Amino acid sequence: MGQVQDKVALVTGGASGIGAASSETLAREGAKVVVTDIDEAGGQAVVGRITGAGGEAVFLQQDVTDEARWQEVVAETERRYGRLDILFSNAGIGIICSVFEMSLADFRRQTAINLDGVFLSVKYAVPAMRRAGGGSIIITSSAAGLRGSAGLAGYCATKGGVRLFAKAVAMECAAMQDHIRVNTVHPGVIDTPIWSKVGSGGVASRSNTPIDPKQLAAGVPTGEVGTAQDIANGVLFLASDASSYMTASELVIDGGMFGGGVPRRGWVPRVGEG
Ligand SMILES: NC(=O)c1ccc[n+]([C@@H]2O[C@H](COP(=O)([O-])OP(=O)(O)OC[C@H]3O[C@@H](n4cnc5c(N)ncnc54)[C@H](O)[C@@H]3O)[C@@H](O)[C@H]2O)c1
Repeated sequence: MGQVQDKVALVTGGASGIGAASSETLAREGAKVVVTDIDEAGGQAVVGRITGAGGEAVFLQQDVTDEARWQEVVAETERRYGRLDILFSNAGIGIICSVFEMSLADFRRQTAINLDGVFLSVKYAVPAMRRAGGGSIIITSSAAGLRGSAGLAGYCATKGGVRLFAKAVAMECAAMQDHIRVNTVHPGVIDTPIWSKVGSGGVASRSNTPIDPKQLAAGVPTGEVGTAQDIANGVLFLASDASSYMTASELVIDGGMFGGGVPRRGWVPRVGEG
């Protein structure tokens, strides 16, 4: 018996990185997974791995900024699997750029995916979850949704935005006693393809220099960057009944970046009084 046995999950941005690892983890734990993404080849590959391992999944191509497509995707999920229990609203991009150099077009493009896309996902998933008698919504925010970061002002605005959006939706659902829980997950530096998409609409930076996330390990108190599976493990917990009393909450998975601040490698506290 898996931790999300026979539940139906919809994962956006499921073709790559955190979404792919989460789709595979939810399927391994018994869920039927609707994997969506703009990247058809990547999404089909994830579904192939799931079904090859004996799981159940389908790929639906979807741009999360397209409202009409959201209605179709939720309707197709219910038609195919009869219900919707879990939404992992995860698709996102990161544009690295000084706020003083950022174009309004880039600011809006990032907001359309990271914030409007999350709004649409919730707007169309909640009625289906209510028909199913409840559910769990997990939204990918970021450590950058908890504190400011130079070069990421626009990104921080979207990730801070979804953090409080989730809490407000959680309050609406709680008021209705509809048994829908809404939580955010906050990854730190995670080694996924997002860092290699410099200049191609994923992570973008003025310098257009690809970023190796491993070079960012020095800024992590534990000295290590995370893996997509580290986040998928948290997503599974929030999706499953193990977290049944959690809503309007946030799960930080970041090697201590947010809670601990500046790393002090090799520092050992000395006993003393002063
Ligand atoms: N990797 C990190 O260090 C990190 C840290 C904090 C937060 N995040 C967040 O985690 C989420 C997943 O990122 P990842 O690291 O797995 O990156 P990724 O690039 O590997 O995956 C993101 C996926 O989103 C898809 N996508 C992009 N625009 C889309 C659109 N308009 N409609 C549908 N799908 C779209 C991409 O095709 C891709 O498959 C994002 O929201 C990101 O902001 C990542």
